Parts: sequence; C-alpha cells; structure tokens
Amino acid sequence: MQLALCTWPEIDAWLTRSKGIIVPVGSTEQHGPTGLIGTDTISVEMIAKRAGEAANILVAPVFPVGVAAHHMAFAGSMSLRPETFRAAIRDWAASLDRHGFRRIYFFNGHGGNIAPLNAAVKEISNELNPGRAENDRLECKVQSWWQFESVHALCQTLYPEGHGSHATPSEVAITQYAFPDAIKSAALEPRIAPTGRFTNAEDYRAAFPDGRIGSNPALANPADGEKLVDAAVAGLIVDFQRFTGNGVT
Ligand code: NI
Repeated sequence: MQLALCTWPEIDAWLTRSKGIIVPVGSTEQHGPTGLIGTDTISVEMIAKRAGEAANILVAPVFPVGVAAHHMAFAGSMSLRPETFRAAIRDWAASLDRHGFRRIYFFNGHGGNIAPLNAAVKEISNELNPGRAENDRLECKVQSWWQFESVHALCQTLYPEGHGSHATPSEVAITQYAFPDAIKSAALEPRIAPTGRFTNAEDYRAAFPDGRIGSNPALANPADGEKLVDAAVAGLIVDFQRFTGNGVT
C-alpha cells in the first residue's frame, strides 16, 4: 500500500493496525556510461512497492536525492549536503511520528547515504524519545537493498567477476528490468573498470573517467534484474516484519 495513494481517514485506520512504514531513500547520480542517473532511486522504489503490495506494508514516497557529492563532476548528478539530508530525513520522520508511526524503516539505495542516515536516525531518537514510555518510542532502521544475505549471494553467483562497487551490473540489471525501454549501450573501455581511492569529485573523475568503479555493467540483463528484485523483496518483507513485530507494534 502506498501512502501517496491513501486518504487521511485510511491512514488513521491503518495506524490502529500497524505503526510501521517503509521510507525508500534513493540518490540521483551518474552510474557510468550505461547506467541511469536515477538507478538508486528506481531500485529502492520498485523493491519497496513490490514488498508493500505482496505483504500489505505501507510505503512512503521515495526520497529521491541523496548525499552524492563525489559524483558531482559528472553531468546530471545531484546532491544534498549531509546537513540538508539529515534535516530533511529528520523532518520526514518527525511528520510520521506525529501521526503515531513508531517503526520507520529507511530502505536505502546508495552507499553515500548510509552514514548521514545513521546520523539522522540517532538525532531523531535523541530528540523525540526522551520522556516517552518504552512502548511509545520511535525506532528507525537503516537497511540497504544489497545488504540482504540472499541478494549478496545472488550478486556473487551472477557476477563472479566484474561486479565492482559502482555502476555495478546488479544495480544496472534492476533498472533494465524496471525500465526495459531505457536500456542503454556504450563502449566500455576497459571492460572492467579500475578500483581505487578518491577524495573528492575531481579526483573521482580523474581516477574513474567514465564513472564506473571496478564494474562491468555490460553483464547486466533484465532477467537478472528480476531475480535480484525478487530476492530483495523477499528479504525486505522478512526484515521489515522482524523489525515491526509482524507489522503490529
Ligand atoms: Ni548506485
């Protein structure tokens, strides 16, 4: 069930049954010459909506722009400063908390969001929970789609070589499955991108000129994307239900 497609009386009624909600958190940033700029947002939105439909979980609108300063030397990338991101996540959580949501599951699609999400979650808890009874406290969780054990194992099976860490074949495969009409092709040279360190956006572009890190996204295909989405949906449902106590808190 999607929050955006509900009315307020429906949410009032929902809250008598469940105080849990998934907030998908994406990013808008370059994903190499063949990966879509919306990759991280598209991935978490699709997986969260599927899980919501399959297991009757409420899903908030996707938070579409994350902390991606290191991608800013590539056209089209967008980034929030960490303090802006933290403040916005805090306001989203406080809004939901005000209505009675007490289990907010931030379902993340971008590595650069993890540290600021964890910081935001601590801040929110310190601000909202003092003085509350134990059973009335807000709890938040941060989980990234690729961290489910089944998804991680599937990535290793599908791409024993050339998975890498940015513009990976797994994330590209998910977007190919989601938007088959937007599949791109380009020459990838070298076939598997280099790996290494970087300190800032210019540095990143110098070390990884086409935007990929360690990956060969030409391995991606929509059928793999479907398998990855199915595995992530299953992982998300189990993990969310564990977090909320079967959806009823
Ligand atoms: Ni990504």
